[in-house]
Amino acid sequence: MRILSGIQPSGILHVGNYFGMMRPSIELQDQGEAYYFIADYHSMTSLYDADLRRDYTRRVAVDFLACGLNPERAVLFKQSDVPEHVELSWILSSVCPMGLLERCHSYKDKIANGVSASHGLFAYPVLMAADILIYDADSVPVGSDQKQHVEVTRDLAQKFNQTYGETFKLPEPRFRDGAETVLGLDGQKMSKSYNNAVEIFGEEKATRKRLMSIVMDSRTPDEPKPDAEKNLAIQLIKHIAPTEIYQDEVEKLKAGGYGYGNLKKRLFELYWEYFRDARARRDELMNNLDYVDQVLANGAAKAREIARPVNQRARRACGLD
Ligand code: ADP
Ligand code: TRP
Repeated sequence: MRILSGIQPSGILHVGNYFGMMRPSIELQDQGEAYYFIADYHSMTSLYDADLRRDYTRRVAVDFLACGLNPERAVLFKQSDVPEHVELSWILSSVCPMGLLERCHSYKDKIANGVSASHGLFAYPVLMAADILIYDADSVPVGSDQKQHVEVTRDLAQKFNQTYGETFKLPEPRFRDGAETVLGLDGQKMSKSYNNAVEIFGEEKATRKRLMSIVMDSRTPDEPKPDAEKNLAIQLIKHIAPTEIYQDEVEKLKAGGYGYGNLKKRLFELYWEYFRDARARRDELMNNLDYVDQVLANGAAKAREIARPVNQRARRACGLD
């Protein structure tokens, strides 16, 4: 089985990215041939600062490795080191009906959130389809917000295959049970762009402050909270703590006599503990950035070995070769 996923270097990675995409990808690295890339071409649709792009790209590599991506098992690379993605994207765009892109939610959502309406942003699902099809990927671990893009990928593969003959394999999206959408501090989907995110590697003081700022209702500590499962701090605890601890916190809230301040302190402790080992690995990596750059260079060479022949196959099928 070949597994493929990407993540944009468009900001600092947060707990939603971790549970929605990074952790499932890391878990899958032992179950197949895994290819994970930093989608720097994609980041050009919303980030217009060259230095920041370079900086975030490296940070994503460091954070992914710190969280447990093993470069001996999974290939980690930077998308633009494999420029064949862009050629295939053009090839696919010529069989892509406009209506397919017009129906994509992410374009409208991003514009509503202040991203400029560029052709790149509109056409981005086509590049994403190329990213996936160029590796003959079977499985694509992503958060549920990316489901529509994997469907577009399947549609484009079929459209190309019908037009030029059997060329591409149809991929499947893959979600982790129970962690489809991680909510942010305001109860909406956690996102880099909504100022509601908890960073994976935030500083201790700042993160504590952020978690303590989660707004709760006005019930007194003594009151029992029969709707404990809906509490935002509880929902975050569900992601980062073992089930017994989660259950225990739910029971305490239901019973009454447990205040929100104590609950949020507990949330911070659990968060800090959860990423403790990763944080230590990250400190080591930050002192060894040459190693990180080498991982990306090796990854690009391996990825290109797969991407080039698939791109050639597409070129031949449509008569470019
Ligand atoms: P953001 O919304 O913060 O910009 P991206 O769109 O770059 O995040 O998402 C990167 C990856 O992380 C995708 O696979 C996406 O599905 C996943 N992801 C992002 N936010 C969440 C979330 N709140 N819950 C679950 N998965 C998420
Ligand atoms: N569009 C994805 C996101 O914003 C990132 C991405 C780009 C991707 N190409 C991909 C994910 C291919 C999976 C497969 O999160």
